This record gives sequence, structure tokens and C-alpha cells, in this order.
Amino acid sequence: MAKALAKRYGADVKKAELAALCHDLYRKLDADGLAQAVRELGLDGKYAGNINLAHGKVAAAAMKRDFGIDDGDVLNAVSFHTTGRAGMSLLEKIIYVADGAEENRDYPGVEKVREAAFEDIDKACLMMMENTIEYVKGQGQDLDEETLSAAEYFRKILNTEEHMNSREQAMLAAKVLDSKKAQNIVIIDIAEKSSFADYLVIAGGGSERQTLALTDDVEDAMAKEGFFPKGIEGKNSPGWILMDFGDIIVNILTKESREKYDIEKVWGDCAFVDMED
Ligand SMILES: [Fe+2]
Repeated sequence: MAKALAKRYGADVKKAELAALCHDLYRKLDADGLAQAVRELGLDGKYAGNINLAHGKVAAAAMKRDFGIDDGDVLNAVSFHTTGRAGMSLLEKIIYVADGAEENRDYPGVEKVREAAFEDIDKACLMMMENTIEYVKGQGQDLDEETLSAAEYFRKILNTEEHMNSREQAMLAAKVLDSKKAQNIVIIDIAEKSSFADYLVIAGGGSERQTLALTDDVEDAMAKEGFFPKGIEGKNSPGWILMDFGDIIVNILTKESREKYDIEKVWGDCAFVDMED
């Protein structure tokens, strides 16, 4: 399920596989083993008596120490797979949801989560968190702070998503590009002339390295608002990188490519959005 979700959302399938394989490595530690692991790995003492809360933390710390895995995103995905957290990365969400909705899971409402997982992973995260909160409350146990703030976070971004129209998405992408010193940024309203998107955002990078860096910046900023690219083309020959977010398309080009392809001219009939607005 983790690999399927990674494919669906354009995440790194290998990283998802690695995190999924490792996430429950220490699920079966007994109390003594756990206390020892917490000590040896230098984890917070509060984890010593709570395998439910601790096993992801232990796994992440052991992956780093014993297996030399130092990819922060993979380690965080393992570390937060039981609680989630506010501002989770795409990979963290994938592992969290895959763990809660994989095919062997069988609890009331799991089908709905499974369905949501492939439609809107944020929604699936929130559904799982609300299930957990209800369940833990029903058991009269204390709720983990991390889960509560995560649920709050997803309620917020799911509302934002509804209220953030394609123009606002384009503005956000342009703003990020501007703050990262992209050159000559334009937004073109292509809704009337195209069947595939509402806005084109075009920006220049000084070098192929900068176009790649700008692509990552846009991807991060959009992900924070709950928007994930359906596809990114051109990363292998970064003279022209195209990110397809559905309603908006972001193009980042080097100066040479920009002159060569002159996308603005192709869409010359369309309205250029005034970004001072
Ligand atoms: Fe687990």
C-alpha cells in the first residue's frame, strides 16, 4: 500500500518501501527490551513504558545507528507512523495512511479511509486521526499531543484547500519563486483558451541547478497547502521543468530555454495576471 500510494502521489517509491519495511521492526520488544533500547538509543524516558508510542522512535533511531540509514524523511516517516504530526511530509503521510488502511486492517470505517487514501491523502490522515482520538478517548486513555495537533493541522489545510482557488495557487507559486530569486515571473490566465489548466506560471532560473532548486521550493510550499503535483517533467534535463498541479502549471526555465521556446508568445492572446494585486 505504501508503494501504491507513493506512485499515486509522485513520491519516491524506494523510500516508501524502505520506511514501510522498517516501521514496525521493534513493535514486539518486551518491557525490558524496550527500556534497554530507550536507554541505549538515548531516547526520552517517557517512551520506556509505552511500546505503542515508542516503537516508531526506537525503529528510527536504530535504523540510523545500526543500518546507516540517514535519510531524514524516511526516518521521520518511521518515527511518526503511529501518531502523525502537524506539517507531515508527503512520505510521512503515506506511511501513516498505509499503516492504518492496508488490506489486513479491519475496523469500522477502514474502507472509507482506504478509499480516501487514494483520493486525498490529507483527508485520509484526518479520518484516521479522528478515529484514533475517538478510540483512545473511549478507552479512557490519554491522547498523544502529537496526534491532537496533527488533527488540528489537517482540519486547517483541508479548509484552506477548499478556499484556495486556482488563482491563489498560482499566486502562491509565484510568490515562492519570487522569494527564491527566480527571474521574470509571469502568470498567464489560460482558462478560456485551454482545457487542461487555469493558470500558467512561468519563471526563470539562472542555471540548471537553480531551476531544480526552484522546483523543490515550489513543491514544498504547495505541499504545505495540500497540493501535490500530478507530474513533474524535465528534471533529467533541467533547462525546462514543468510541474503539473492540475489547475495550475508551473514552468521553470533557464534563460536559453526560455528564449528558445518563448511560451509567453504561444499564450500571447491570454491575460497576464498583474502580480501587484
Ligand atoms: Fe507500528
